[in-house]
Amino acid sequence: MLGLDKAYRWFVSSLANQLLFTYLLIIIISLMAVTLWALLTIRAESINDLSNSLKIEAVNLALEIDNDLELDSEDSRARIQKAAERRATNQGVEIIVVDSSGHVLADSSPEDKEPGAEDQKRAQENISKDTEVNEALAGIISVYKRNSPATNTKTLFVAYPVRSRGVTAGVIRIGVPITEVEQRLRKNLIVFLEIIFATGVLTVLISLWFADRFMRPVKEMSKLAKEISFSTEFTNYLPVDRRDEIGELSLSFNQMVARLKEQERIRQEFIANASHELKTPVMAIGSVVEALQAGAAEDPELRKKFLESLEKLSERQRKLIAELLDVSKLDSSPHAGWSDTIDIASVISESVEQVKAQADKKDVQMTPPQDGPNYQVLGNSSQLQRAIVNLLSNAINYTQSGGTVSVETVLSDYSLVQIQVKDSGMGIAPEDLPHVFERFYRADKSRTRELGGAGLGLAIAREIVARHHGLIDVESVVGKGTTFTITLPLVEERT
Ligand SMILES: Nc1ncnc2c1ncn2[C@@H]1O[C@H](COP(=O)(O)OP(=O)(O)O)[C@@H](O)[C@H]1O
Ligand SMILES: [Mg+2]
Repeated sequence: MLGLDKAYRWFVSSLANQLLFTYLLIIIISLMAVTLWALLTIRAESINDLSNSLKIEAVNLALEIDNDLELDSEDSRARIQKAAERRATNQGVEIIVVDSSGHVLADSSPEDKEPGAEDQKRAQENISKDTEVNEALAGIISVYKRNSPATNTKTLFVAYPVRSRGVTAGVIRIGVPITEVEQRLRKNLIVFLEIIFATGVLTVLISLWFADRFMRPVKEMSKLAKEISFSTEFTNYLPVDRRDEIGELSLSFNQMVARLKEQERIRQEFIANASHELKTPVMAIGSVVEALQAGAAEDPELRKKFLESLEKLSERQRKLIAELLDVSKLDSSPHAGWSDTIDIASVISESVEQVKAQADKKDVQMTPPQDGPNYQVLGNSSQLQRAIVNLLSNAINYTQSGGTVSVETVLSDYSLVQIQVKDSGMGIAPEDLPHVFERFYRADKSRTRELGGAGLGLAIAREIVARHHGLIDVESVVGKGTTFTITLPLVEERT
């Protein structure tokens, strides 16, 4: 039982084994079936052939002895015996001739040729009880297989009625051992078994070759997958040198590895950037505190200045942390719960409300949103507001005092609505334009230290808009101003 269990486990441990043995089993079973059928057919055919040639022999002998059968004299019997013996030795068969009552007239068997009483006895024997003789006496050519009493081997008997003037004058029975046929069959069987064995061996060899061809890439894949699950270095790829499903699988696998590699790169970059951004204000706070401790706190003017900058720095840190949390939330949370119907107009007016203080402080003119048709989109209103606020606060941030910022809603198509945030600010240089939506990207590093944040606002806005199945775009002229456009699909009118 234990051995069987072990064998089974070995069998299921490899796809190649399973394929190989299943095929082998199928091939051997079908070859055996074919062999069995072929042998049975050959046997039947051979016996049929044999009995036909015995019939011909009987007919020939009948032609030779039919006159003597009628005569029934010593001479005629001797002639019949001679004819039977001659034919029997020629053909390697045993021949018995009986008269119309079933008494043996002639017998070719060598035992009967022995001199004395026995010969006499055999010659008088009545064998009309033997089935084939019985049938032949009734006028039917009869074929039977049974053990011959003379040789005690399996024998094929053909009994042929010799007819003379309408009546059966006697019967010629010819017997031949079937051992010869069976010997021939046995030879055939051996050949068949050899073929089966050779086919089996060939199958095993071909299957092993195939299995290796199939299994090698699968094994490589599994090895690489294991490697990947243990490390974050994605340096290895699979060879793609096949055009079949395995090649396709390798290709997909490589694409997956490439994607993982890219994501890992983004993740590491994000962590590096985030830590750098977090570190900067903390260090600044540290040096301000140091300055205060060193005596700056004594001077009321200096103290006020330093405390204000502490406030700014901690505010900056708070904003940065809030943004980082937003990014990680957007990265990890699924899209569920983003299917409320949102009124664009109310989201815009709430966003404007939210940045009003910032605009007032900077003395930037906010053009109030115009009244118009109420457009609706599907999504999450607080997230959409977050995206618009990010655009508005950038617009205020990067516009000098006295400038203007406006937000408009335009129907761009029957199914699309655009939210445009315009400013009359400093603009963005053409070489920076393609990058402003990237995480931690700031157009002017030196300048925006004072003005902007960590460079996450637009990345967050773009992610939110994408989750609303929308697009975000930017146009800008340096020194003139910038327009950010969010395009969203409208809620389908249900009529
Ligand atoms: N309205 C704008 N006018 C000029 N430059 C802008 C405007 N909006 C964004 N930018 C540029 O794009 C960069 C990325 O913006 P954002 O992702 O909001 O980061 P942050 O505002 O924190 O710097 C900004 O640093 C700024 O250089
Ligand atoms: Mg910003």
